Amino acid sequence: MTTSHLHAASMSLSEDLTQDELKALVGQAALQYVVPGEIIGVGTGSTVNKFIDALASMKGQIRGAVSSSVASTERLLALGIPVFDSNDVPRLSVYVDGADEIDGQGCMIKGGGAALTREKIVAAQSDRFVCIADASKLVHTLGAFPLPVEVIPMASQRVIAQFARKGAHAKVRLKGSQPLVTDNGQHILDVTGLQITDPLAFEAEVSQWPGVVTVGVFAFQRAQVCLLGTATGVKTLTF
Ligand code: 5RP
Repeated sequence: MTTSHLHAASMSLSEDLTQDELKALVGQAALQYVVPGEIIGVGTGSTVNKFIDALASMKGQIRGAVSSSVASTERLLALGIPVFDSNDVPRLSVYVDGADEIDGQGCMIKGGGAALTREKIVAAQSDRFVCIADASKLVHTLGAFPLPVEVIPMASQRVIAQFARKGAHAKVRLKGSQPLVTDNGQHILDVTGLQITDPLAFEAEVSQWPGVVTVGVFAFQRAQVCLLGTATGVKTLTF
């Protein structure tokens, strides 16, 4: 991992910046990776919402976006940014998305916003993953954040039992009193008690369990760049 510090627009930085302001800072900084004339891959979440808002300022210079969720699609369209079906766009040069955790190799836990499956699809069709996050997301080992896993509902108990055999505890994510239903019509398990020391091996193993749609470890689709919002500015990590 190599690092550098970027100036952060003309904003005077202090330790008083809120997490929301740090998200806005990295959302703005990600514009430097947007290639004029191209279609941009856009992730999901509160940090990406800041990026989408910033992207609106250059919407005349891009063709549009491929989106990773219904929520991001709605936000993009509301700001006048065209949204393309991923099937109609063979390749994207850049995908900008947040993360719940990122390690020193650019491997991530994602899916806090339940959009992990479409996020992994759009990341896979992109040449470069630019992760935008506040400094609290940088970790040594993935796993403190409950790992999201999208599952076919009929497999939930079986997958929960498979995690229990690893000494981890998985439970179905609820919305109100009912299981949350993803954009793909599936359920999410949140898994605690993991220390993911080999993200590639972990992702490969869990991805092939019957009923698992997507595991929220992004090691095969890891970030090449992370723009980290810190009290002293935007720190650029490259992997
Ligand atoms: C959504 C995601 C998000 O990128 C992740 O949860 C980070 O979100 P936020 O920027 O709101 O902290 O993976 O599925």
